[in-house]
Amino acid sequence: MTEFESSILSDHVDARLVTGDLEEAVADRNAIVQLDPDHPGFRDPEYRRRRNQIAQIAMEYHPGDPIPDAPYTREEHQVWSVIWKALRPAHQKHACAEYLEAIERLNFSDDRIPQLREVNKTVEAISGFRLEPVAGLVQPRVFLENLADGVFLCTQYIRHYSTPLYTPEPDVVHEIVGHGGTLACPRLAKLNRLFGAAVKRTTSTERLEQLSRIYWFTIEFGVLRENGSVKAYGTGLLSSAGELEEMHEAELRGLDLEAISHQAYDPTHFQPVLFCADSFDQMDHALREFFTVW
Ligand SMILES: [Fe+2]
Repeated sequence: MTEFESSILSDHVDARLVTGDLEEAVADRNAIVQLDPDHPGFRDPEYRRRRNQIAQIAMEYHPGDPIPDAPYTREEHQVWSVIWKALRPAHQKHACAEYLEAIERLNFSDDRIPQLREVNKTVEAISGFRLEPVAGLVQPRVFLENLADGVFLCTQYIRHYSTPLYTPEPDVVHEIVGHGGTLACPRLAKLNRLFGAAVKRTTSTERLEQLSRIYWFTIEFGVLRENGSVKAYGTGLLSSAGELEEMHEAELRGLDLEAISHQAYDPTHFQPVLFCADSFDQMDHALREFFTVW
């Protein structure tokens, strides 16, 4: 595997849901920005300054207030441009119909990172969901419970410009292209709310981990059949052109939520196993049924 291939593998990482890394997340929704020495931006003082500035927006943010714009640089808008121009055609080939309809409504610019306040205008009108800024990673329970109230805790920074196809943490591209796009699909938004409500009813760590796995293999990495083809509805797939192109290499299993609740995953590689629903309707129905008895 080349360095380039191994770097795009991690494009989708969503450490919020990696329950093994709980200690690295924080209970509070606002963490202080700390980059690992191997983070692409570790040796870039200007990037670190901006990350702190963007984190400050989240720390000073009061839910319901207008969200201040993040101060992106020209290089960062170019990072968006590179990723978005790779994703658009990949979506046409591999995304499910409901997502394609939503992403068209969001009407992202080719050459400018959309601000959260702009994304919210469309998403809120469709599903009532709001993306609210958060400084860093939050614990899975905090992240998931907020979904019950129509709040998606959202990072606002973008990955370092030296690695446009790699990010070691979920950044604004994953958040708005993946989650923003699916929260602009009414039925997927509703499922996010049901996940949040189920987490609120869950007291044991084991059951919370089961729900996190189901969230991972559906909302983050779900695929379904549409007119005889396999299409993506998972945010981790929809925000990574590399992973969308590779998803057909995965072993496809039927959508068995009980099996998924025990299926371990490694977020640092392409997913070798994906769970494929027979249709959007079947996925929607199976999850709704599941939540009625959770
Ligand atoms: Fe995610």
